[in-house]
Amino acid sequence: MRIPASALALAVLCFAAPGEAQEKPAWAFPVTDKEQPAVTPNNAPRSAPGSARSYTRAQADAFFDIPDWYPAMYPVMPRIVANGAAPNVRACGSCHLPVGAGHDESAYVAALPAAYFIRQMADYKSGARKGSGSMQLIAQHASDADVKEAADHFASLKPPKWARVVETDTVPKTYIAQGNKRLVHPAGGTEPLGQRIITIPEDEEIVLYRDPRKGFVSYVPKGALAKGAALVAGGDGKTVNCTICHGPDLKGLADVPPIAGRTATYTVRQLFMLKSGERAGPQAPLMKQAVANLSVEDMLNIAAYTASLDP
Ligand code: HEC
Ligand code: HEC
Repeated sequence: MRIPASALALAVLCFAAPGEAQEKPAWAFPVTDKEQPAVTPNNAPRSAPGSARSYTRAQADAFFDIPDWYPAMYPVMPRIVANGAAPNVRACGSCHLPVGAGHDESAYVAALPAAYFIRQMADYKSGARKGSGSMQLIAQHASDADVKEAADHFASLKPPKWARVVETDTVPKTYIAQGNKRLVHPAGGTEPLGQRIITIPEDEEIVLYRDPRKGFVSYVPKGALAKGAALVAGGDGKTVNCTICHGPDLKGLADVPPIAGRTATYTVRQLFMLKSGERAGPQAPLMKQAVANLSVEDMLNIAAYTASLDP
C-alpha cells in the first residue's frame, strides 16, 4: 500500500511532541530592514525639559561618549557605562541607557543581581549564551574589573516602570529602523496584530535621542494577560510555577533574575533561546522544566503578563 506523502507529513505534524522545536518568531528578534523609508535627517541639537544638556542625533548615537541627559536620575556612571573601552567595548549605557531600562531590542538590566549579571557576561564570552552578536564581542573584550563596575552600577538602580501593556487586535504599521529598532512607519496605517507582540516608543524622539525619561508601549493580543498569569502559576502542569525561583512578586530571588516589568519581546527571546539551547550557561538547566512544553504562543502570553507587572 502506498501512503501519499501529504498524509505522512500530516501524521508527523499531528504526532509532533509539544516540546518540539518551533520556528523563531521574527517579531521578537528584530533585524534592521534592508529597505528603509525616507526620513529627513535632523542635524540640529535637541534640548529636553529640565536638562542643561543638548545633543544632536549623531552625538546621541556616539559609541564611546553617551548622552548624559539627566545626571540627577542615576548615580555617576562608571567609565565603562558612559565611555566603554574603545575599540571593541561600546559604552554599556549606549544601548542599556544610564537608567538600565534599555530599548526593546536590547535588554532591561536595571536592578539585576550583580552575580547574575557577571555570570551572563561570562556566558556571552564563552559562547554558551548566543543571541546577540554585539554582546558576545563586548564580553570577549571587556575586562573583569569593567564588568564588575557595570554590574554594580546597574544593580544599584531603582528599576523604572518602562512599558505599558495594551491588549488589542490592531496595531500601527511599523518597520525596523537602524539598530534593530522598531518604529511606527512614517506612511501611517494599521494592521492586524495576530499572534505577535509589537513594542513601539511612547515618544519616538525621546527614544531616538536616548533620553531616559520615557519607555514603550507593548501591544499584545486580547486575552494574553490572563493566559500568561495562568502559565506563570504553573499552567496546570504545563510548566512550573515561576515564583518558586523568581520570587513571590517575580522581582528576583538571591541571584535568580527579576522577570517582572522587563520588556516583553526580550522575555520571549530568552524563553525561546533557553528552550532551543542557544542560551545554555551553567545555570540555564534550572529553566529547562519551565520551558520544555511552552509553545511560542505560551511564551508570548507569559511575556505579556510579566511585562505588565511593576518591575
Ligand atoms: C550595541 C548595543 C549594546 C551595548 C553597547 C551593550 N549591550 Fe548588553 N545587551 C545588548 C543586547 C541586544 C542584549 C540582549 C539581547 C537578547 O539576548 O535578546 C544585551 C544583554 C545584556 C545582558 C543580559 C541581561 C540579562 O537580563 O540577562 C547583560 C548583563 C549586558 N547586556 C551587559 C552589558 C554590558 C556590561 C555592556 C557594556 C560593557 C553592554 N551590555 C553593552 C546590547 C548591548
Ligand atoms: C527552578 C528554578 C526556576 C524556575 C521554576 C523558573 N526559573 Fe526562570 N530562571 C531561573 C534561573 C536560575 C535563571 C537564570 C539562568 C542563567 O543564569 O542563565 C532564569 C532565567 C529566566 C529568564 C531570563 C531572564 C533574563 O534576564 O534574561 C526568564 C525570562 C525566565 N527565567 C522566566 C521564567 C518563567 C516565565 C518561569 C515560569 C514559567 C520560570 N522562569 C521558572 C530559574 C527558574
